[in-house]
Amino acid sequence: TQQPDLVIVGAGLFGLTIAERCAEELGLRVLILERRHHLGGNAYSEFDPETGVEVHKYGAHLFHTSNERVWQYANRFTSFTDYKHRVFGKYQGQVYSLPMNLGLINQFFGKSHTPDEARALIAEQSSEIATEDASNLEEKAISLIGRPLYEAFIKGYTAKQWQTDPTELSAEIITRLPVRYTFQNGWFSDTYEGLPVDGYTAWLTKMADHPNIEVRLETDFFAVADDYKGKVPIVYTGPVDEYFGNSEGRLSWRTVDLEESVVDTGDFQGTGVVNYNDQEVPYTRIIEFKHFHPEREKTHLPGKSVIVHEYSRFAEEGDEPYYPVNTADDRAKLLKYRELAKSEPMVLFGGRLGTYKYLDMHMAIGAALSMYDNKLKPHFTEGAELT
Ligand code: FAD
Ligand code: NA
Repeated sequence: TQQPDLVIVGAGLFGLTIAERCAEELGLRVLILERRHHLGGNAYSEFDPETGVEVHKYGAHLFHTSNERVWQYANRFTSFTDYKHRVFGKYQGQVYSLPMNLGLINQFFGKSHTPDEARALIAEQSSEIATEDASNLEEKAISLIGRPLYEAFIKGYTAKQWQTDPTELSAEIITRLPVRYTFQNGWFSDTYEGLPVDGYTAWLTKMADHPNIEVRLETDFFAVADDYKGKVPIVYTGPVDEYFGNSEGRLSWRTVDLEESVVDTGDFQGTGVVNYNDQEVPYTRIIEFKHFHPEREKTHLPGKSVIVHEYSRFAEEGDEPYYPVNTADDRAKLLKYRELAKSEPMVLFGGRLGTYKYLDMHMAIGAALSMYDNKLKPHFTEGAELT
């Protein structure tokens, strides 16, 4: 059989963007290998057959970007709703509007503050520790926002995210803890925000809908690598350590266990995301998916709702890698893998797994467009070397 011009490992947003550009703009024949039973990577979603509610199968995905080119590009495959993301947080029987803002400060301290009064209060409370002296995550957080807000909104949540006491976590995990001295409670502050009108899978499927693109599902690259390695250019978006047989040791990740259930109420929590800040509550968040699409109300089964409890923990072998842990040890390993990757002939590494970086969707698309501009297009149109 005829070799494709380009093989892409992984049908996530990074791989799909590369595939679409190379097929559409350069007319290349692209083969995408994907080991899961579906394309789309972690942005994949399904409509729950019972309730008609779209469920993001690898955790809630909210699209947002300030990158004009990425926004224009995404809009070629889908339009977006005007959904604006908001997050609420429960603590000791109260619900607060996040991120930390004037409304939360007033509610938490039980009294109204002007912006200047709130600034003065937080400055006073955070003066307990100087940020430069902070030797762990707890001290760093207290140095930024003071002890009361830390204990309510950071301590328990962080301990559950990392399954580690914040005094045992590195100070560098947090660089800033923004407090807004306004009532503005939009979660993102990007120019563009919204959810794909017909769902994520429709969007992602459309990206691959091109006569020059073949997506081969349930196909692990490592099972067929000999057919392609060294013979055809490859863009690899799987885990970089796995590519090299974990020769430098495994990179560490956090994962999230997602417990999905259908509940017998038309509205479980009145909003899409509620964080649980109390340390005694074992889960970190509950997602109620129907609230991401209020415009679909008529298509949702009345009296029922789909919710997902999220539990965070360190990933073991076989778990889905979600967030890089990024310890000093991981960074040392990553440098070695980068050296190996550089000298791997005809293979480019990309995406969140291939670069061991947390990438939002718009960042994955943006990084793929850059790789296309700077490496693939020059290679295929001018014969530039692929490195
Ligand atoms: P992926 O989507 O992970 O795709 C990589 C693909 O490669 C996978 O499908 C995998 O099966 C495949 N693969 C790996 N190894 C092999 C192999 N050997 N052979 C064949 N196939 C292989 N972004 C946002 O913008 N907003 C959000 O709200 C948001 N929420 C998120 C929540 C969670 C829990 C997570 C984990 C991520 C979230 N993201 C969010 C980020 C978003 O998921 C990423 O930006 C996106 O997944 C990156 O795409 P990718 O192609 O790099 O990786
Ligand atoms: Na301080």
